[in-house]
Amino acid sequence: MTATTVERDPSMTLKQEIIEKYGRNAWDLILTVYVNFYYSELDIIDLCARWLPRRKGLREKNFLIRHAADEVVHARLFREGVEMLGQPWHDFDHEPYKIDDIGDRFAKLFYSDDEIEVLIGLNLYAEGVLAMEELVQLARSNTPYFHQFERIEREERRHVAFGITVANQVLDSNPEARKRAVDHCKWYREHLDGYLDGQLKESIQFAMDAGFVSADYIDRTRARFDDVMSKIGIMEVVA
Ligand SMILES: [Fe+2]
Ligand SMILES: [Fe+2]
Repeated sequence: MTATTVERDPSMTLKQEIIEKYGRNAWDLILTVYVNFYYSELDIIDLCARWLPRRKGLREKNFLIRHAADEVVHARLFREGVEMLGQPWHDFDHEPYKIDDIGDRFAKLFYSDDEIEVLIGLNLYAEGVLAMEELVQLARSNTPYFHQFERIEREERRHVAFGITVANQVLDSNPEARKRAVDHCKWYREHLDGYLDGQLKESIQFAMDAGFVSADYIDRTRARFDDVMSKIGIMEVVA
């Protein structure tokens, strides 16, 4: 990590400090992170609710209830994070900060009746790869800008573990699901490449320039993908 500890001027809000020290791009980047995390949490809460009546086991139902409950807390923490920077949550237009892909990706999951697709797309990919690498790195950015990201990261690890447990149950009991899992995994691997190299490329570069994330952020994200998918025995089939 290349970030240096920021010296604080107590008369400034953190928003003013970010703009002064890192520039407007860094401010926009930080708001982009918060806004997209916030709205993703709302989508995930609804997605958990959708699967609750379909899960028969008590343990598996409990996973969804705990998952959704954590996301309610996270949504609140993301909102608080923005306010803590000196930016009232309701005082800016959120729309320009929303990454189009995220809404589309969750919509695809929302209409899917394939449980293995939802587990791979949500718990493993969205939470276990994309959000996790961001949380891990921003939590350690040596700045006060990323409110409670360490706690959120810890709880996201739980959601990934829920996903791995249930995905392995589905795969063990249904050989057909394994074939679909391989296809979904390929789809998300391609998505990852397009995402890191397209829509997110500029933002990742700003984050690297500001020292908020490491220079090998993209490689680490790809390695995380392989690691997470190997936990359900899929990566060796895809490779
Ligand atoms: Fe979360
Ligand atoms: Fe989560």
